[in-house]
Amino acid sequence: MHDMTVQLGERSYPIHIGPGTLSLADHWIEGLGPRSVVITNEIVAGLHLPALQHALGNHPHTVLTLPDGERTKSLANVDAIVRHAIEMGLGRDGTFIAFGGGVIGDITGFTAATFHRGVGFIQVPTTLLAQVDASVGGKTAVNHALGKNLIGAFHQPRRVIIDTELLSTLPAREFSAGMAEVIKTLLLDSEDSLRWLESHMKALMERDPRALPEAILRCCSIKARIVSADETEQGHRAQLNLGHTFGHALETAYGGALVHGEAVALGLLMAAHLSQGLGWLDATVTQRLRSLIAAAGLPTTLPSPKPGADTLLMLMGRDKKNLGGLVRLVLLHGPGQLEVTADYPRAALDLTLREFTGEPS
Ligand code: NAD
Ligand code: GLY
Repeated sequence: MHDMTVQLGERSYPIHIGPGTLSLADHWIEGLGPRSVVITNEIVAGLHLPALQHALGNHPHTVLTLPDGERTKSLANVDAIVRHAIEMGLGRDGTFIAFGGGVIGDITGFTAATFHRGVGFIQVPTTLLAQVDASVGGKTAVNHALGKNLIGAFHQPRRVIIDTELLSTLPAREFSAGMAEVIKTLLLDSEDSLRWLESHMKALMERDPRALPEAILRCCSIKARIVSADETEQGHRAQLNLGHTFGHALETAYGGALVHGEAVALGLLMAAHLSQGLGWLDATVTQRLRSLIAAAGLPTTLPSPKPGADTLLMLMGRDKKNLGGLVRLVLLHGPGQLEVTADYPRAALDLTLREFTGEPS
């Protein structure tokens, strides 16, 4: 098992990574407060709730099971969680436990940030995507009809418990989606990290029990380092959004036909294409990225029917990371060499959007 810490002064917290961390209840059950509410979804509850409840033992808790899917990340479901918590008598000293993928983690964290002006929560991520990214760093949010993650807060969990055995039931498509964030994180870190990924790609896709916890540890460590230096994204943290401004626009445009990780994979390729078009990125890096994305079983071209370039541009314009009406993007000069900027020729962005949507320029 690997233990690490996200260093944030008095809000620092541990991350436990490895097979069977869930059942090591003595690691985490004390400090939960007098009572907890577990938030999960119908799929995860059906597969893994008994394991979580076994770990919780006699600790007083109730469970709220939400529907599956991205649409669950709504203000209506925040209301459902708050209602449940009030009815169950959860006080300021109570704890929310997020037991699921990024959707459950994001909505539980957001509710914890606001309920009684902030209560503690624990992340028990059950997808690869949530284990390598969403459960760490304290970004919480729900969606609005007009865009993804538009209502949110920074609220750090008290602890993150990453049990890699939970991934055994994860469908191949969702595993691949998680690999998109693995690729993103190791690409934005360094050439060495990218090489490590290239040499472990096969083992990772086979869910190798040694390679997988190591990849998760690498990703969590990289993310923790960035978050410790810039918790509320005043600068450096924006690098973690590599591929995400394109990706969020695609996710909204496809209305659920693309899962988050697939949209991020395509967003990474679009960011690389634009960077290459600007003369910043060597074509070999784009090619290595494309190979990794393909090896992860992720799409490298937009599925049909494709959205229009103008639709994507309009959706990118709504991204909360924009400044002064300009679309701010994370672009690449190479592995580990990123630039967060709105200062690039608009024509270059148009060209990338048209290339991917198949519209004549
Ligand atoms: P998800 O939570 O919808 O989970 C994907 C699917 O896997 C769901 O159908 C879920 O029920 C199922 N599932 C979960 N665990 C399983 C298991 N162990 N076995 C079988 N099935 C399982 O999606 P996700 O990809 O985990 O997360 C995507 C969400 O995370 C998006 O809303 C995205 O915006 C958010 N996100 C947040 C951050 C952050 O920093 N807060 C970072 C990245 C992504
Ligand atoms: N997923 C991007 C971040 O946490 O900052």
